[in-house]
Amino acid sequence: MTGTRPRVTLKLATSLDGRIALANGVSQWITSPNSRAEVHQLRARHDVVLTGIGTVLADNPRMTVRDNGVERPEQPMRAVLDTNARTPAEGQYVQAGPVTIFHSTDSVPNALAASHAELVRIDRNSEGHASIAHAILWLGNAGHRSIMIEAGGTLAASAIKAGLVDRIEWFRAPVLLGGDGHPAIAALGLENLEAPPTFTRKEVRVCGPDIWESWERS
Ligand SMILES: NC(=O)c1ccc[n+]([C@@H]2O[C@H](COP(=O)([O-])OP(=O)(O)OC[C@H]3O[C@@H](n4cnc5c(N)ncnc54)[C@H](OP(=O)(O)O)[C@@H]3O)[C@@H](O)[C@H]2O)c1
Repeated sequence: MTGTRPRVTLKLATSLDGRIALANGVSQWITSPNSRAEVHQLRARHDVVLTGIGTVLADNPRMTVRDNGVERPEQPMRAVLDTNARTPAEGQYVQAGPVTIFHSTDSVPNALAASHAELVRIDRNSEGHASIAHAILWLGNAGHRSIMIEAGGTLAASAIKAGLVDRIEWFRAPVLLGGDGHPAIAALGLENLEAPPTFTRKEVRVCGPDIWESWERS
C-alpha cells in the first residue's frame, strides 16, 4: 500500500497511576465530566475515531461526538480493529451510525455481514491480530488525515509498538487503582532503556479535578 500516513493521536483516560480499569474489569467514568466533555471535542477534531474490539465488547460504546448527550449532525468516521469480526451487529457501536470494521477472517457472522457496517479485510500482524499499520494505511489512502485511538491497553500497546503514535492526550483523574488494575498500555516487551518510546510534554491543563497532558513523540 502507498499513501501518506495520517497523524495518530492516542487518547488515554486513566487513574493517577495509569490504570484504566479495575482487575474485575469495572472501568467506565474514571475521569470527570469535564474531561469527558473535552474528549468529545477531541473526537470532533479528528477524521477517524479508532477503537479495539475489547472496548466494544466491554463497554458497548457509541464512540460518537455528543454535546451534553446530544449527537452532533457531523460525526468523525468510527472504525474498530476486530480480527475475527466479533462486533455485535445489534450493539450500540454498529447501531449508532456508519462504522468500519477492520477484520482478518473468512467467516463474518451473517448478522454483521447483513448490517450497514463497512467490512474491510486486512492482513494480520506477527501476533495474529488485524494489522493496525495496515488499517492506518488504508485510512490514509481513503483520504483521512487524523486518527484518534480510543481503546484499551491492548490496542494502545500495539499502536505504540508499531511506532504509530504521534501524540498522546492523557487525562488523569485524582484516584489510585493500584497494580492489579488494567494498565493504559499493555506490555511493550522492552528489554532495555536504550530506545523506549519517548514523548515530549507540550501542554498541561487543569480539567476540573483532573490533569490533561498533551505529549508529542520526540
Ligand atoms: N480509559 C480509557 O481511555 C479507555 C478507552 C477505551 C477502553 N478502555 C477500557 O479498556 C478495556 C478494554 O481493553 P482491551 O485491551 O481488552 O481492549 P482494546 O485494546 O480496545 O481491544 C483489544 C482487542 O482488539 C483486537 N485487535 C485487533 N487488532 C489488534 C491489533 N493490531 N493490536 C491489538 N489488538 C487488536 C484484539 O482482539 P482480536 O485480535 O481477537 O480482534 C484485542 O484483544 C475496557 O475495560 C475499556 O473500558 C479505556
